[in-house]
Amino acid sequence: MSDAIKLIAGTSHPAFAAEIAGKLGVPLCDTEIIRFGNENILFQCKENVREADVFVMQTSCPPVSDGIVELLIIIDALKHASARRITAVLPYFPYARSDKKDRPRISITARLMADLLETAGADRVLTMNLHSPQVQGFFRIPVDQLNATPIVCDRLRATTDLKDSVLVASDLGEAKDLGEYANRLHLPMAIIDKRRDDDGENPRAVALIGDVKGRDALIIDDEIASGGTMIEAARFLKVNGARRIEAAAVHPVFSGRAIERLRGSEIERLVVTNTIPLRDESLGSRLETVSVAGLFADAIAAIHGGDSVSKLFA
Ligand code: R5P
Repeated sequence: MSDAIKLIAGTSHPAFAAEIAGKLGVPLCDTEIIRFGNENILFQCKENVREADVFVMQTSCPPVSDGIVELLIIIDALKHASARRITAVLPYFPYARSDKKDRPRISITARLMADLLETAGADRVLTMNLHSPQVQGFFRIPVDQLNATPIVCDRLRATTDLKDSVLVASDLGEAKDLGEYANRLHLPMAIIDKRRDDDGENPRAVALIGDVKGRDALIIDDEIASGGTMIEAARFLKVNGARRIEAAAVHPVFSGRAIERLRGSEIERLVVTNTIPLRDESLGSRLETVSVAGLFADAIAAIHGGDSVSKLFA
């Protein structure tokens, strides 16, 4: 039986896949992905994967639907090529926010993603900071959810004078995650009560729990999509007397005009991870990216070796 790790990169985030491969010292498999004129996708692995432990890396980023279909096609091909085990590595999980039936006749697409991945032939999933941790329970196969918080905290501690800082959850949903940041950085917390009237890009901050007056505020969120949440949080914190505003988020989705909007915001510095490729670098030195590829590489090595993955979160 083969004991080889095989790494396959989808087309979503080649730099991240290459970084993981470099950290593991395992070359990416030679593959071919063709998009035909009729938009059909063909995948071929040019190497033998029979009985191999295969990790397919594909994050969720535009074009999102193409990336999902491509991933399913790759997994299906590997299954038929007799891979022993296939792990779908999804640094940013697609449709993670579509996780509950909070309106009548609404889609719960994160659940559908779980079904699709299993049907295609995935044996395991490796992902990071799910918007809702309960998405793990949508699967009948094992899901390892990595946590970027220790890496983000290390970066913040190393680069910011946190003496007069207060951590801020940009909405009530983020308040629970913020506790871990507060424990690691030994900082007080404040929470913003955010309201979204629809699925729009302009949520409203209506109340603040905690004190930010005269302090530097550090806004934390799991992701920045349109940027509306962060920008509104920063405005509201200024109104409430905060001094300097910095922010950190795990997943830099940056949809639509997010970067342009963030450029005009009160946020002086923004720390994100590299789970999603950046399409626009125009925030310049205000935007800092911290790599989580090493953590993914360590997790892949642990999964391959049958070791604990949770020990990586310490
Ligand atoms: C919401 O519950 C999340 O924690 C984020 O605040 C949200 O996904 C960010 O979206 P946007 O940047 O579009 O406001």
